[in-house]
Amino acid sequence: MSFTLPDLPYSYDALAPYMSRETLEYHHDKHHLAYVNNGNNLLKGTEFEGKSLEEVVKGSFGKNAPLFNNAAQHYNHVLFWQWMKPNGGGAIPGELEKKIAADFGSVDKFKEDFVAAGVGQFGSGWAWLALVDGKLAVTKTPNGENPLVHGGTPLLGVDVWEHSYYIDYRNRRPDYLKAFVDHLVNWEYVAELYAKAS
Ligand SMILES: [Fe+2]
Repeated sequence: MSFTLPDLPYSYDALAPYMSRETLEYHHDKHHLAYVNNGNNLLKGTEFEGKSLEEVVKGSFGKNAPLFNNAAQHYNHVLFWQWMKPNGGGAIPGELEKKIAADFGSVDKFKEDFVAAGVGQFGSGWAWLALVDGKLAVTKTPNGENPLVHGGTPLLGVDVWEHSYYIDYRNRRPDYLKAFVDHLVNWEYVAELYAKAS
């Protein structure tokens, strides 16, 4: 199998003003597409040809850095588009909300930790909500790394590469992260992933 670029699950204007058409055009049509194309080229002739995307990501980590970087970024972005929706960031479905409150103390504390992880990731990377050994955890990773290669299941991730926010927020990464949490997160999709993983 080869990697393919999925369409956005909403229109390019749907996430404005929190994420603009221009950002989505560059981020999806150029950056994500480059990961897909580079990943496909790097996959050719390797032991990972024919494997699922998840298997490629896990198997190439620590073994084939160029392939890992592109495959993992493809994996991360496929999820990232689904982790957002217009008018997002509202109520969290009950079971997940209970679990977040149990593991972090409160939903507000989770949001605070998640934003802090994104702000604190030096340089390019991601902040995550992951399920690790039955417990929710907030983590951060550099570049294309994700919880999959650290023994967890990613439930929510936010891209803190500058290509994700610089057009709309310039250097104000904290404002981007706050807008993501308050206005963009598709909690129904996060709950779906949680239900599958737990
Ligand atoms: Fe990105």
